[in-house]
Amino acid sequence: MVAKEVIKNFEGVCKNLKAQEKLNIIIVGTGYVGLTTGLALGYLGHKVTCVDTDTAIIDKLERGISTIYEPGLEDLLKDKGNIVQFTDRLLESLSNADIVVIAVGTPSKSNGDTDLSFVEAVAREVGSAMDPDQPPVIVNKSTVPIGTARRVEAVIKEELERRGISSTFSVASNPEFLREGAALHDTFYPDRIVVGANDMHALNMLRQMYAPILEQTFTPPQSVLRPESYSLPALVTTSPTSAELIKYSANAFLAMKISFINEFATIAEKVGADINEVAKGIGLDKRIGTGFLKAGVGWGGSCFPKDVRSILFTAGQYNCELQLISAALDVNQKQRMKIIEKLQQTLKVVRGSTIGILGLAFKPNTDDIRESPAIDIINELLEMGARVKVYDPVAQQKYRETYPEQKIVYCDSAVDTARECDALAILTDWDEFWQLPWKEIGQSMDQKIIIDGRNMLNCEEIKKYGFTYSGIGR
Ligand SMILES: NC(=O)c1ccc[n+]([C@@H]2O[C@H](COP(=O)([O-])OP(=O)(O)OC[C@H]3O[C@@H](n4cnc5c(N)ncnc54)[C@H](O)[C@@H]3O)[C@@H](O)[C@H]2O)c1
Repeated sequence: MVAKEVIKNFEGVCKNLKAQEKLNIIIVGTGYVGLTTGLALGYLGHKVTCVDTDTAIIDKLERGISTIYEPGLEDLLKDKGNIVQFTDRLLESLSNADIVVIAVGTPSKSNGDTDLSFVEAVAREVGSAMDPDQPPVIVNKSTVPIGTARRVEAVIKEELERRGISSTFSVASNPEFLREGAALHDTFYPDRIVVGANDMHALNMLRQMYAPILEQTFTPPQSVLRPESYSLPALVTTSPTSAELIKYSANAFLAMKISFINEFATIAEKVGADINEVAKGIGLDKRIGTGFLKAGVGWGGSCFPKDVRSILFTAGQYNCELQLISAALDVNQKQRMKIIEKLQQTLKVVRGSTIGILGLAFKPNTDDIRESPAIDIINELLEMGARVKVYDPVAQQKYRETYPEQKIVYCDSAVDTARECDALAILTDWDEFWQLPWKEIGQSMDQKIIIDGRNMLNCEEIKKYGFTYSGIGR
């Protein structure tokens, strides 16, 4: 995108928000959610400060370099002008804040419970420095277990009491539903915005924050155009507890949908059906819908696995069994090992074989490898004595940094990876894997075996080049 055009867009958008409608917003946590939200709200005309304790992140962002791979993000970052500030000092940013959005990580503990230490640390800092006469609305955007809005309120109150202050302030829950890889699109054009609040002040402030999105009054950025069929999003207002449960229900349902189709992929394979045809046949029923019905190696990423474990943990605390969700988790764990089973079936002996892995990210268009199926599959292959070559167009560097001890061969392209391999396994459906030079690839492999963990290839086409092809449920 041409820089000048973006700056023009920024100015145009800012004019849309009148001075009294602009809010002073602090976003705490500048990861996938915080950075996307901060840049989008800045683009819409609010005055935004993005805070992160990781000074390396702040340093890079200040220089206009994105710390994550997310389509369109760097365009906004480069041309942010003075609208979005980056800092590692929350305390200094708190004066004059209208809204403080908490978007820090909420990782899993080993028992499945959610580690809220990052969220509580932010609440403590806010309580230790906020202006009690003009308190900001505190917003939980991180995915947090039931009762966290109350917990954040309690922590802030403790800090205020320590300062000898009694003040009334609001804590709202505003779960995030963006998809990595389409994060800006989902932020500018969401299906709905959920706000859980107990008072009108918090609700009104959040309505004001999201007004340009709710009313779609902004000029779309060149790199994130408004879809023609897009209609205004609903604002769903609830209690904080319902909002917290909405987020877990949404992720658990989507994870369950994928596990459902993967379970049916197993039976499709046994009876000789094609799961892609089955998914289309059921998905066109509007009651079911086509989304999240793609059979493959299963779900991963930073959200579904931890959120599913977290809601199971919460349910356990209430002595309540979520049998469908437990089963979805089980099916998913087994699904990853289907790749290993298929390699054993076709190669017979895996030890000593060379396996090429195409794709490390948990899905395309992101560099996020958190809980990616590739991790378990590569570990298992190494354990079994295979030599592993890998290639991912974007996530490779992150994988190498995260697993420096792993003895794997990093390659520069899919073609390079395939050379002298006994089998290739596709684990992420990156666009560039659609159109690979299969003839050349086949000629360079020791055995022409493809395990298509994302059912992305045309199996008839691939077989024409002499490959033994195995997909999931086909
Ligand atoms: N990634 C997604 O697709 C997605 C989607 C919806 C919801 N969520 C939820 O949003 C939250 C954030 O997810 P993410 O993927 O952006 O996480 P992330 O790990 O990418 O980023 C979190 C950031 O918070 C920073 N941080 C930690 N403690 C801090 C503190 N005290 N002060 C300031 N910064 C601090 C970290 O340095 C890190 O940069 C999680 O609860 C997640 O479940 C994520």
